[in-house]
Amino acid sequence: MDCACGNSEQNKEEYLAPLREVLKNYDGKQKDLIPVLQDTQEEYGYLPAEILAEIAAGLDLPFSRVYGVVTFYSQFHLEPRGENIIRICMGTACHVRGGSKILEKFKDELGIEADETTEDLKFTMESVACIGACGLAPVIMVNDNTHGRLVPDDVPEIIAQYE
Ligand code: FES
Repeated sequence: MDCACGNSEQNKEEYLAPLREVLKNYDGKQKDLIPVLQDTQEEYGYLPAEILAEIAAGLDLPFSRVYGVVTFYSQFHLEPRGENIIRICMGTACHVRGGSKILEKFKDELGIEADETTEDLKFTMESVACIGACGLAPVIMVNDNTHGRLVPDDVPEIIAQYE
């Protein structure tokens, strides 16, 4: 398995040091798998396969169990995430008012599909169900900020605010 740490043993140990600290806090207890995953993701931003293998070893669990939990819960991510998370609402009100045109414009501008991350790790884009601001349809969120009543021409300016 390729390691995101680079090749040398020393790099690997440095790379794994934050994980070792997390594991220490939980004393190798299997029931703590989810909090261990949460804390580890907090440290690394995502949960690459080599980290999952270390967690499995640290908690004496099969890799398949750890992997199964990570893929079951949407809060966990196997791939790096962008610095900014763009959520584009595809709920009914937003869809009716042109949400898919907004999504298309983001795809064109960022050069990625939904659920992908730009190469420079600036943006991750997701299409989501109703985010509870239907009065502002079509609406998106960037991180914690809501942008509503959008037309496709608004998209470049929104992206520029977060670059
Ligand atoms: S449908 Fe988009 S906010 Fe409700």
